[in-house]
Amino acid sequence: MASEIQIEQAGSVLTITLNRADKKNALTNAMYGTLADAIEQAAHDDAVRVVVLQGEGDSFTAGNDVGEFAAIASGMHSGERHVHRFLHALAKSALPIVAAVHGKAVGIGTTMLLHCDYVLLAEDAELITPFVNLALVPEAASSYLLPLRIGHARAFEMFALGGPLDAQTAMAWGIANKVCSNQTLRADARRVAEQLAEKPAGSLRAMKTLMREAEALISQMDAESAVFQERLGSAEAKEAFTAFAQKRKPDFSKIAQR
Ligand code: COA
Repeated sequence: MASEIQIEQAGSVLTITLNRADKKNALTNAMYGTLADAIEQAAHDDAVRVVVLQGEGDSFTAGNDVGEFAAIASGMHSGERHVHRFLHALAKSALPIVAAVHGKAVGIGTTMLLHCDYVLLAEDAELITPFVNLALVPEAASSYLLPLRIGHARAFEMFALGGPLDAQTAMAWGIANKVCSNQTLRADARRVAEQLAEKPAGSLRAMKTLMREAEALISQMDAESAVFQERLGSAEAKEAFTAFAQKRKPDFSKIAQR
C-alpha cells in the first residue's frame, strides 16, 4: 500500500505530499505522526532548506478524519495524539514552508496555512473552517492568527458560518501569496521553493524566527486544545459526528446551550 504521507527530497527541497485521495486526504493520527516526524527531522537536517506541503487527488485535505474525532469522543482512541506534535513542529519550524493548495482545504487544512510562509492557491482552492459546524472550536492557534491576519469580522464569519473562501478572496485577504492555475501549481511551488533554497539559509531562518513568536503560538494552541477536548465530548459534537457518518445534516435544535 502506498504511504499516506509521501516524503521526497530533491536538492535541498523536502516535499511532503498528503496521499489519501480516496478520503480527500483526511488526516489520521498516524498521518499526523509522520508529518510531525518529517518536520521535526527537517529542522535538524542541514541538507533541507525548504519544505513544500501539497496534496494528491482533488483536494489538499478534508481536515482531521471525522471518524477519528468520533472515536476520541467516545473514548475509543487512546494514546498520543500526534496532531499536537505536528502543530508544535509547525509553530517552531525555522525552515521556510511553502504550501501548494488545490481543491478543498478544510479545518486544519486551512489553519496550517497560517503557519506556512508562502502559500500558493490553485484557482479551484476553497478554504473552509467548519469547526463550529462540527460543534468544535478552532485549533492551530487560528483563533489568534486568523483574526490577526484578516480581521475579526471576516474570521468570525469563516469560523461561525463555515462557508468556503475562494482563492482570489483568500489572496486579497492576505492568507495566500499567489493564485495560479491547477496545471502549474506544483511547478510554481517548486520554483518558489528553489528560489528560497538559494538564499542564505541562516539569514532566512533568523528572519523567520524573528517574525513568529513560537512560544506564544504554542501557548495559544495548548489553550485551544483544552477547550477542543472538552467540546469533543459534548452532546453537540456527538450529533455532528453521527450526522457526518450518516451523511445527513446535524440537528442541534434540541441540545441545551451548555
Ligand atoms: N474524515 C473522514 N472521512 C472523510 C473526511 C473527513 N474529514 N472528508 C471526506 N471523507 C470521506 C468521505 O466520508 C467519503 O468516504 P466514502 O467514499 O467512504 O463515503 C470520501 O472521503 C469522499 O468524500 P465525499 O464527502 O464523498 O466528497 P465530496 O467531494 O462530496 O465532499 C468534502 C468533500 C471535503 C466537502 C466533504 O467530504 C466534507 O465536508 N468532509 C468533512 C470535512 C470536515 O468536516 N473536516 C473536519 C474539519 S475540523
